[in-house]
Amino acid sequence: MARTPFIAGNWKLNLTVSEGVALAKGLVGALKPGVEVAVCPTFLALYPVAQAVAGSALGVGGQNCYWEEKGAFTGEASASFLKDAGAKYVILGHSERRQYFGETDATINKRLKAVLAQGLVPILCIGETLAERDGGLLQQVLKTQIEGSLAGFTAAQLETLVVAYEPVWAIGTGRTASSAQAQEAHAFVRSVLRGVVGDLADRVRIQYGGSVKADNAKELLSQPDIDGALVGGASLKLADFSAIIAAA
Ligand code: PGA
Repeated sequence: MARTPFIAGNWKLNLTVSEGVALAKGLVGALKPGVEVAVCPTFLALYPVAQAVAGSALGVGGQNCYWEEKGAFTGEASASFLKDAGAKYVILGHSERRQYFGETDATINKRLKAVLAQGLVPILCIGETLAERDGGLLQQVLKTQIEGSLAGFTAAQLETLVVAYEPVWAIGTGRTASSAQAQEAHAFVRSVLRGVVGDLADRVRIQYGGSVKADNAKELLSQPDIDGALVGGASLKLADFSAIIAAA
């Protein structure tokens, strides 16, 4: 089953509007046929970045969104507002959201519903902590996160779903999962997806995330169940992110 490789940059709370626009314009020249590429700026930079790359194949995504469409929800941004600002993707359930902002599989499930209702592409993040891995809980954690986040959806609704497997211990630490560890987890994720969405599991792109760099991208991306990368730190510099796109 051929799946189009998908490389996404998660800028987190980095890059001002002008910095983000400059990087995104540079990235347009680094795109290559057959590889889907997106950047996920802060809410502030999303619209100007989307405007700056309009007409190119570089996609833009949000890093999160609220589940209500609008109203008295101070500090939030919704899927419909992200779409209106030019987003095509939304990252959901990033481990930093789970760790620092109280996100749970139940709230991610509500956000996912809003994202799909707007026709945006969800990038659903899952992953275990080091304590969970060491405690032999890897599979249980991944299964709980997938089944909890996707509860109540049909396979037809999840046609565009992208999953990002990001072991928490590998995020921003410089400590990448080995390609064998990553492949093993990805194959397991796909098997759980098969239980939830049936044959669609063969078409769902599963990105790896956690200290992906130019020098490890090729090895990771050559694994059969690794269909792309969600890149944090190395997505902030044109040369680094371009090299990861080139490796795909
Ligand atoms: P990192 O972040 O590449 O800096 O480890 C990845 C992520 O959190 O998505």
